[in-house]
Amino acid sequence: MSKKPPQQLNSHLPVLLEQVVDYLSPRSGEAYLDLTAGYGGHARAILSRTQAPQKMVLVDRDKDALATLTDIAAEGGKLVHSDYATYAEKAAEQGIEYDMILVDLGVSSPQLDRAERGFSLKREGPLDMRMDQNNAEQKTAGYLINHMNQAELERVLEIYGEEPLGSARRIAKAIIAARPLETTQQLADVILSHHRGAYKKTHPATRTFQAFRIAVNDELGQLERLLTVLPRLLRPGGRVVLISFHSLEDRLVKRFFKEQASAGYEAELDLLEKKAVRGKTDDVHNPRARSAMLRAAVKK
Ligand SMILES: C[S@@+](CC[C@H](N)C(=O)[O-])C[C@H]1O[C@@H](n2cnc3c(N)ncnc32)[C@H](O)[C@@H]1O
Repeated sequence: MSKKPPQQLNSHLPVLLEQVVDYLSPRSGEAYLDLTAGYGGHARAILSRTQAPQKMVLVDRDKDALATLTDIAAEGGKLVHSDYATYAEKAAEQGIEYDMILVDLGVSSPQLDRAERGFSLKREGPLDMRMDQNNAEQKTAGYLINHMNQAELERVLEIYGEEPLGSARRIAKAIIAARPLETTQQLADVILSHHRGAYKKTHPATRTFQAFRIAVNDELGQLERLLTVLPRLLRPGGRVVLISFHSLEDRLVKRFFKEQASAGYEAELDLLEKKAVRGKTDDVHNPRARSAMLRAAVKK
């Protein structure tokens, strides 16, 4: 297994940086909550404007990511190793409020690049896919792939991978026939060998990898729990930006924002844009940006 040198692992480019800063419009001394701090690209841009590290809370469930933010902690910033839903629920219970909140969902480039994390179908590694590798209770993708029955696998592939029922059934069957599967390459090969016809740009296993990543990290459950408490975490006039990378996440955010928009005087948030702001489709430096969908709101 090849390991990339550390300087390359830190090369996560924040998506839609200009737009994030515009919508959050940081002012000197304001409080910032980053629920998916990652490698701190957005957080550092905000910090340069607020100049208030002691009012920054940076949450991530990945210890590798938090380890790159210790300089902000040294200036008084708070680093929190937690999943964001649990942190948000606790903060809401304690009545903590912020001027700005950012949620930049999904995986970071360094997570994708490191073969041993098991996220990438292009890099041979163990089928892990846990964003928090320190969480021994969380089942890995390998565990789910090797233990789920046909109906459970089909469900994951159909709901989280958005595979049509026929191909979900075919892939689930192929997985069961090839078990035990240990590595990303083995999983990708099983799906490729059962794929009907040639493929052009997108590898036929892409949706399967997405499906297991979402299942392993309970990505949709996390987002639903967060949206329930999100408005309570903002001060009046506080701004929130959410960036999602697949339609399942964006659907939840869109529905939540739509409910807010139609709640009349009971609404807690005003939407800053009716439609999602899309990432640049031609950003060769940052392919993640192509699927980014940003939504922003302000607390009434
Ligand atoms: C796209 S990256 C964030 C990049 C960051 N905005 C930057 O500029 O470097 C997403 C990060 O969110 C974290 N993450 C994803 N889901 C999470 C969750 N449910 N709870 C906590 N962190 C999560 C991942 O570990 C990853 O580091």
